[in-house]
Amino acid sequence: MKKFSRRDVLKTLGGTSGFLILNTNPLFSLPNFSFRNPLHLPSDSGLFGVLTPSAPFTMTAREMDYPILPFSSTRLWIYETSVGGKEYINPIIRIKKGTAFSTTLENELSESTIIHWHGLHVDHENDGHPISQIEPLDEYQYDFEVQNRAATCWYHTHAHRRTGIQAYHGLASFFIVEDDDEDHLTDSLDLNFGETDVPLVIQDKTFDASGDLVYFQNPMGATNGFLGDTILSNMTYRPYLNVTTRIYRFRILNASNARIYRLAFMNKLTGMPFYIIGTDGGLLPAPQQATEAFLSPGERIDVVLDLSKTRVGETIWLKSLAFSGADDCGTMGGGGMMGGGMGQCSNLPNGSQFSILRLNVTRRIPYDKRVPAELSIIPPIETTDSETRRFTLSFSMMRWLINGLSFDMDYVPVTVNRGSTEIWEISNPLSSMGMGMGMMSMPHPMHIHGFQFQVLQRVSSPSAVRSLAINKNGLLATDGGFKDTVLIWPGEKVRIAVDFSHNFPGRQLYLLHCHNLEHEDNGMMMNYEVL
Ligand code: C2O
Ligand code: CU
Ligand code: CU
Repeated sequence: MKKFSRRDVLKTLGGTSGFLILNTNPLFSLPNFSFRNPLHLPSDSGLFGVLTPSAPFTMTAREMDYPILPFSSTRLWIYETSVGGKEYINPIIRIKKGTAFSTTLENELSESTIIHWHGLHVDHENDGHPISQIEPLDEYQYDFEVQNRAATCWYHTHAHRRTGIQAYHGLASFFIVEDDDEDHLTDSLDLNFGETDVPLVIQDKTFDASGDLVYFQNPMGATNGFLGDTILSNMTYRPYLNVTTRIYRFRILNASNARIYRLAFMNKLTGMPFYIIGTDGGLLPAPQQATEAFLSPGERIDVVLDLSKTRVGETIWLKSLAFSGADDCGTMGGGGMMGGGMGQCSNLPNGSQFSILRLNVTRRIPYDKRVPAELSIIPPIETTDSETRRFTLSFSMMRWLINGLSFDMDYVPVTVNRGSTEIWEISNPLSSMGMGMGMMSMPHPMHIHGFQFQVLQRVSSPSAVRSLAINKNGLLATDGGFKDTVLIWPGEKVRIAVDFSHNFPGRQLYLLHCHNLEHEDNGMMMNYEVL
């Protein structure tokens, strides 16, 4: 069967790539210099206020109007909390390893919901599996000890088949674990959380004329995943941040439904080198220098950017660079990985280039700190006696599948013994389906609940990915340390090591799923249990 490349599709349509990225949203057609809204930074209350709980507290999921755009407010779905006389919206929970965490979720939405603590090692009753979701006006009680090493984790809704629409409307924020390694880094770089240590959650939305969010769910949208045409950082529209001549840390969370970012800090046309210091599960053993990094939905990347050599008046842009292979409406280059026709194009296809955040160097200050050469110690997971379990991703009858299966709440296809270490090999084959049959292959950010893993190897990566490899196993700088989500590109096979040791009593039910939230909602998810 003949495979059609994206180039063929364009040829037969007689088009060029230019018209595909034409944007009809008036908000989006503003030029770059309109980045004039101060980036929302977390303070001790309000939106993304930093909350270090010392006692049980309540999180209420409900709707609220919030001013994101200049002239209108937007109806969001948020977590609201009141602690010590302070009101929080989507609090950034910041907590020490070893602390007891206790919260009650109250559901004041008009539909069922549940919170999942993404990246945290908790027992299944605290994990927020959709089996635990609660009806409107019900409550769910979470009680667990934070066992993870320091990491920039996050929390979000995990409603059954409704995670995409709920997270899109705002039900997500950070859950940051701290420990001594973190304290050491903070001291050596003289970082201040919320000022020079900046949590940055990136999301793409589409607004209607009245400022409300648009979430379309046509069948093609579900197949590709939802792509908004307006990029928000910390819910700020077209943001800037004034910076001084020193080192900044950005903890970047991709909480978009389906968009993959190829992040770079651009000084004019040059990518500024930065250090990747951490990934999903916390600090790397040592900083990794890079000039760009892919970040897929669910993943976090912790970077430091040295601005000490910049001059007052300079502007640095955090951008997402163009790339191909993620969207059949994407930019030209590598040829499309997918067929499927024109009906599903977003105004801002996956793989488009755009700006995210403007950094204005506004003040020179004395600063002489250096990124430490050692950040943490990570013993490799021992896999010499490990079994390999294989998962194959595929597409059939308009659904994305794992080992040919679509999610069934009551079926548990995978049983793992507690304390065992397994190699999970996830393959994303390029399918031989032709045009008209729909997609052939897409990148899938695969996520595991309950355990952090280590990425062992990437096999047959697309060339744009292979060119970023830092070792002979094909790993990227962003594959280091502990991970809970790993992007698997079309044609790739990725091997990960998971240590299923835990001290929770009895059978534990967890999930493996794609973190493209429309894929997840449409069944690209599988139960697994640890006995
Ligand atoms: Cu962040 Cu099951 O997901
Ligand atoms: Cu998770
Ligand atoms: Cu997917």
